[in-house]
Amino acid sequence: MAAFATVSAPVSADDHGEKHWSIAIHGGAGTMSPDKMTPEKRAEYEVALQTALDAGKAVLANGGSAVDAVKAAIIPMEDNPLFNAGRGAVFTWEGRNELDASIMDGRDRSAGAVTGVTTIKNPILLADKVRTDSPHVFLMGEGAEQFAAERGLETAPPEWFATEHRREALERMKAEQVSALEVDHKFGTVGAVALDMDGNLAAGTSTGGMTGKRWGRIGDSPVIGAGTYADNRSCAVSATGWGEYFIRVGVAHEICTRLRVLFEGVDAMSTEVGEDEAQDWLLHSNLAQGVSDSVMAEVEELGGDGGVILVTPEGDALFSFNTTGMYRGRATSDGVNEVAIFGGEESAEPSSTPDH
Ligand code: GLY
Repeated sequence: MAAFATVSAPVSADDHGEKHWSIAIHGGAGTMSPDKMTPEKRAEYEVALQTALDAGKAVLANGGSAVDAVKAAIIPMEDNPLFNAGRGAVFTWEGRNELDASIMDGRDRSAGAVTGVTTIKNPILLADKVRTDSPHVFLMGEGAEQFAAERGLETAPPEWFATEHRREALERMKAEQVSALEVDHKFGTVGAVALDMDGNLAAGTSTGGMTGKRWGRIGDSPVIGAGTYADNRSCAVSATGWGEYFIRVGVAHEICTRLRVLFEGVDAMSTEVGEDEAQDWLLHSNLAQGVSDSVMAEVEELGGDGGVILVTPEGDALFSFNTTGMYRGRATSDGVNEVAIFGGEESAEPSSTPDH
């Protein structure tokens, strides 16, 4: 049975018309144990997560857009070899680093995604260029790189992406004939979701995929609807985990769709019981957590594992994962700021309105 982290950070629109923002990030989920992590390694991850969170927070607190906050939070994680994205990405069977990323703006559901790029320093920026500057949603390999060159995206040589510990993981996988999960123990995919002060949502995800991937294997991260989805009517989701299962369940879109239908039910309820009562019910019902947990339970039933981060239009920032840990963090305009690694590490009452 899944051990879900069920915590939400409420930032509902207040009665004084004050504008709120909210952000959540992840740096991968997987099998991890506090006993096996040295205090130094833990501190390294915490600093890296806080750096990413701070970059996203700065954009939102200054009135920037959710899309810009998502990119700002993901870039430092792509540049940090601790994570399986950009620099530090896992190796393919052939010994290359092939990168995937996607981004979506909940305002108009515009989306951009790239897969199998090998020279783009920050794939999340290329995904966003596809969104804003092409008539397409999803570009692959050489074509995506050509598009990047025409748009002036920054590139990096193969040595930038390649790290020794990821190369060793590939060698071990080949020598011992073990699976990607046995050499990695976790998925280091990175992602961010945000709500900005204008009430817009966005989500983004970036990854190197799975160690030893071959035959052109693509996971969920660049697949809009599987690893990434954002819709102002419901929520923004970024996933990390065993991509095949997240694609089969259509995790990110499934969560958003279920929530949208439930929100529509609440709207209908407000005509019956009045808006205040309907809103009160909404704030106390923890719908988003319940929906995320039940979609993650479906992933688990099929045999998959991993996790999601999510923000809602009310500013709830929450996590759901069925692994022992997920590198994660969240911050809100109400003063919530936390990073966590293992299950159950968040404060139970992260804001001044804990029962929302
Ligand atoms: N979730 C990343 C992948 O499966 O590629």
